[in-house]
Amino acid sequence: MSGNIQWFPGHMAKARVKIQEKLKFVDIIYEILDARLPISSRNPMLDKILQQKPRLLLINKSDLGDRVQLKKWCVSFKEQGYNSLIINAKFNTNVKKIISESKIVLKEKLKRDEARGLKSRAIRAMIIGIPNVGKSTLMNRLVGQKKAQVGNKPGVTKGQQWIRLNSDLELLDTPGILWPNFENEEVGKKLALTGAIKDQLLHADDVALFGLAFFVNHFPKRVMERYSLTESDLSLSTVDLLLLILQKRGFKDDYERASQMIIQEIRAGKLGPYTLDLLEEV
Ligand code: G4P
Repeated sequence: MSGNIQWFPGHMAKARVKIQEKLKFVDIIYEILDARLPISSRNPMLDKILQQKPRLLLINKSDLGDRVQLKKWCVSFKEQGYNSLIINAKFNTNVKKIISESKIVLKEKLKRDEARGLKSRAIRAMIIGIPNVGKSTLMNRLVGQKKAQVGNKPGVTKGQQWIRLNSDLELLDTPGILWPNFENEEVGKKLALTGAIKDQLLHADDVALFGLAFFVNHFPKRVMERYSLTESDLSLSTVDLLLLILQKRGFKDDYERASQMIIQEIRAGKLGPYTLDLLEEV
């Protein structure tokens, strides 16, 4: 639903201010990324917005992403100074590790607090990310049955609540929503293909052709199997290939419907797991 937000400049400014207001009350930010788009699902201004705030990258929807690529991305993020975890909020994989990983990210701060004799308190965290990356799903996963809210804390925007997950972690009850990158056409196609932005923002056939070309290049066998194609079919232009698939599926000349079908199938992982942002291409 949140994928349908229309991001006008005013909305972007408001979203930025909202997050910045809360930053001073949190110890760590959980930045949620989509496993299919470890770069393209990130907000373009995030470093500016978050400044030096400690951050843990949560690469969500691991069931849909390419394991090999994701491991490479984790290494790359580490080289850039960020800890990351590959998680699956929907099926609850690695979600439990978030608390222990947060302590690793905040190790220095926790040590400093202890040395200064400060009483240890729960880590305060906030989830942020672009629409549809799984912020609410993760929130629900983390909160689970623990509906006990800690109540308003001084200084936090009115109406905001902290949810105590255990004695070690408190979570702000509303995730921060940021806008995706609209500047680059290829990024736009990637976002549309995975459902991160509204379908109507781009032509379905452009998005479908982009997706089909990606799979022909990187996973030709999957395309052959899924659409009963031969190896020589794959040397057709992507447009002709789409037309051939259209015929095989009995869509006659309904190019629009064929495009939608390709998009839906790729989105749903019917052509297998994939990561569109390839580390070696960035
Ligand atoms: P948001 O708050 O960031 O906008 O995202 P939200 O949690 O609403 O999740 C967006 C969609 O992504 C939902 O699907 C949700 O189920 C799905 N999702 C979240 N985490 C994962 C994951 O780890 N793996 C997979 N495969 N999907 C995930 P939906 O189609 O909008 O809803 P539904 O069909 O699941 O009800």
